[in-house]
Formats: sequence, C-alpha cells, structure tokens
Amino acid sequence: MCSEKTEQPRKRALSCIQPSGIPTLGNYLGALKNWVAMQEDFEGIFAVADLHAITVRQEPAKFRQQIYSAYALLLAIGLDPQKSTVFIQSHVPQHTQLSWLLSCYTQFGELSRMTQFKDKSARHADNINAGLFTYPVLMAADILLYQPDFVPVGADQKQHLEIARDIAARFNGLYGEVFRVPEPYIAKAGAKVMSLQDPEKKMSKSDENVNAYISMLDSREEIIRKFKRAVTDSEAVVRVAPEKAGISNLIGIYSVITGKSTEEIEREFDGCGYGTFKTAVGEVVADELAPIRERYDQLMKDKAYLEENFRQGADRAAYMATKTLRKAAKKIGFVL
Ligand code: AMP
Ligand code: TRP
Repeated sequence: MCSEKTEQPRKRALSCIQPSGIPTLGNYLGALKNWVAMQEDFEGIFAVADLHAITVRQEPAKFRQQIYSAYALLLAIGLDPQKSTVFIQSHVPQHTQLSWLLSCYTQFGELSRMTQFKDKSARHADNINAGLFTYPVLMAADILLYQPDFVPVGADQKQHLEIARDIAARFNGLYGEVFRVPEPYIAKAGAKVMSLQDPEKKMSKSDENVNAYISMLDSREEIIRKFKRAVTDSEAVVRVAPEKAGISNLIGIYSVITGKSTEEIEREFDGCGYGTFKTAVGEVVADELAPIRERYDQLMKDKAYLEENFRQGADRAAYMATKTLRKAAKKIGFVL
C-alpha cells in the first residue's frame, strides 16, 4: 500500500515594527529575534508599520530614511524575503481600507482604555490626534487581513492584541467565520527589556536619554559603556529579586542571549562585583549585534536591492490581503 504523505500547511505568524527610530535591544529580544526563529517553521509575514508611526509627528526626510533603515534591519537580522513576506505597510492599501471597516465595529469605550493611548497622549499633549486613538484598529487590520495563527510581540502589545481578537470575534459573531482569531506569541524571556537608566520603565527607542537604551546599531564601545553605566543597586550580588530591578533586567538580557538559566548565571558571577558582570553583559550583547550591524551597513548601500524586495513583498502581501478584505466587505453588504 502506498502511504501518501499529506503535507500540513504551515501555520502563519505575523508581526510589524514601527519605523520610529532605530530599533533597540528590547525590540530585538522581545520581538525581532523570535521572528527569525519562527520563520523556519511558520509562514512569516512581517512589515514595517510606517502608517502607525505618523500618530506622532515625523520629520519627512528622517522618516523616509527610517523606513529604509527598518526594512534593511529586518533583512539584516536574518529574515529571508524569499521565505517570508517582508513589506512596508503603506504599500498595501488594504490595511487602511480594512481599518475603516473595523473602526465601525470598535467601541469608543474600548479604545479609551488602551494604556498606550493614555501614555502617548500624556507624552504628546499638544498632538492627541484621532489616529493615536484609533491606532489599535489599524493594528487589528494589519493582523486580521492575513489570517495569522500567531502574532509574536513583546509584552507591551498584549492589550492591542486582545482588542484585535475582540474585534475579530465580534465581526465573526455577526457575519460568520471571516477572520481567524490569532494567539499572541509572547516569549517568556526578553518579552520586556527594561530601560538601563530606569529599570521600572521599558526600554524604548523614543527615550530622550540615549543611555537608557541600546540601539541595535550602537558600536561595541557604546554598548559596553552603556551597560557599565546601567543603574543597579548597592548590594553588589548578582541575583534576581523584585527589589533589584536593574540587575534582574541585566540577568534577563544575559540569559536570553547566552541561553543560560538564571541559576547558572547567579553561580557564574557569584562573588564577582557588578563591574565584571556588566562588562560581560555588554560583551555578549555586542557580539550578538555586531554581525547584524555589518549586514545592515551593506544593505543600506544597496537601495535598489531593498526596493526590489519590498516591492515583491508588497505584491505578495496585497494578494493575501485582498482576499480577506473582499470577504469582509461582501459580508457587510458592499457591492463588489
Ligand atoms: P515598536 O518599536 O513599538 O514598533 O515595537 C516593535 C516590537 O518590539 C513589538 O512587538 C514590541 O512589543 C516589542 N518591544 C518594544 N519594546 C520592547 C521592550 N522594551 N522589551 C521587549 N519587547 C519590546
Ligand atoms: N503596535 C505595534 C508596536 O508598537 C506595531 C504593530 C503595528 C504591530 N501593527 C502590528 C505588531 C501588527 C503586531 C502586529 O509595537
């Protein structure tokens, strides 16, 4: 008897990153590194979320540069545009189209509860625009258009993912199974890398203090210098504890990069001062980021190569997105 091997279609993973500055070590460990790991076993769909970035004011020339830079970084970390669909959000107009439809299925009240909206409107009090408020609806559209199974993000995006799931379930409840309701994929380690200057705050590329974050393009010297200056405590014992947020954060970073457990790390640095430990963390981070920076520099010299890839990525994405958008529009009753 011949046993026919039926090939299971690969599950889909989708995620995006805003081109609002050079990504940090937080973006890398919380999200990007997982995207690369997932691309082997999943059908990956990854985008530069440029539409999201204009919810805060961007300087045009710098913004354009940052979009190229974010795209180049996605390739530099190892996303393969042949294996995965890697594109720029605004090149696929279905995102804004579905976003409008979904906004009519999203309540004012649920958007008002979003912590990122509250944080960002406090930080940009002079520009609390409607886009900042409806941002999670656009993010829901980014996701739902592609029917993904998983959305790999850092812990800060959990609430946005929940609202995307709620919108999908609500729509499906009214019209039948239009959208797949995706699962968040939040890795245990690295999901929330904290600021090096204020370990109660997440590491963010928009922090005004450059010592608070490691940019993925920082030089080896900068990386080590920033880790040496990282805020810690006065106990001088390398161990994880709630009251030792600074050291716990550094242990977390060292652990995700080396694959060593907390216990192994505590043993390895038993009796060492913070100086030794901080340098060790700086070194492993610098070693991890160096080859990425090298590939990034090469890619940024070849705009034509980037353009060819993001155009192809957008074509592939638009093909998938159109199917879902039409299905949703038809269910609502639009004449197609
Ligand atoms: P953003 O830079 O806001 O576009 O975020 C891109 C991805 O990085 C999202 O999945 C975030 O959840 C993740 N991310 C951002 N900051 C951090 C952080 N400090 N620690 C872990 N993940 C993060
Ligand atoms: N809002 C996300 C962030 O700030 C970026 C993002 C936009 C995203 N669209 C997405 C993440 C879709 C996952 C899926 O990090």
